[in-house]
Amino acid sequence: MAKFPRIIAHRGSPRAAPENTLASFRQAAGDGATWVEFDAALTADSRVVIFHDDELDRTSDGAGLMADATFEQVTALDAGSWFSPAFKGEMIPTLEEALELFASLGLGFNMELKTDRGREVELAQVALPIALDMWPGTNPTPLISSFSREALAAAKDIAPQWPRAHLFDRLPEDWRQAAAALDVVSLNANQKHLTREQVMELRGAGYAVMAYTVNDLARAEILFGWGVDAIFTDIAGEMLAASAKL
Ligand code: G3P
Ligand code: MG
Repeated sequence: MAKFPRIIAHRGSPRAAPENTLASFRQAAGDGATWVEFDAALTADSRVVIFHDDELDRTSDGAGLMADATFEQVTALDAGSWFSPAFKGEMIPTLEEALELFASLGLGFNMELKTDRGREVELAQVALPIALDMWPGTNPTPLISSFSREALAAAKDIAPQWPRAHLFDRLPEDWRQAAAALDVVSLNANQKHLTREQVMELRGAGYAVMAYTVNDLARAEILFGWGVDAIFTDIAGEMLAASAKL
């Protein structure tokens, strides 16, 4: 099975810099993270940018749906000022810009395909070829994840050699069939609903288990004690500093 680090910086280091920006990823690397997770989304004109929400409002000075905005509009937005004036001028990264940075920093990455309805396959079809083309083979092999099974199935077709993870909020009843069909290596769970029994069952079936988003050291210790393989955290630096205990 592919090797993953135990601590993955969720959207970079989003408490110190605006989430999912190059500043946030640089900060994560500076905090000692070896891997980052980011959200890949499609603009109206089918370009891939790094952004979490369906709507532009919370983390940029734009408004309305990402899916309705063109690449030109999205890449003109300020994605830093909402966080702090110190980050004014920080932009929503293109996938290419983010991948270039990861390559230069030697950062491993988990690309989460953040789909909007009806374009699940399209997102994988646009994002995966770019990532395949830009990934330096000397860096850790990326992990591709999604809540969308359609996107994961497309990722399996396009980049079968790259490991995949099935994201979920609560463990779906049909997880065994889905995990087998999508040939995932990991099941990535909302830590709030994850139980020790589930971790044992999933690991017993041969899958890795990763938990999001874990920002409490005591909770991280419990999850690792259950056998969780990796956590996504907004405080990678603190988690790494405590990692001897984890
Ligand atoms: O991939 C883990 C986590 O990022 C999934 O949830 O909403 O933070 O993208 P979200
Ligand atoms: Mg995410």
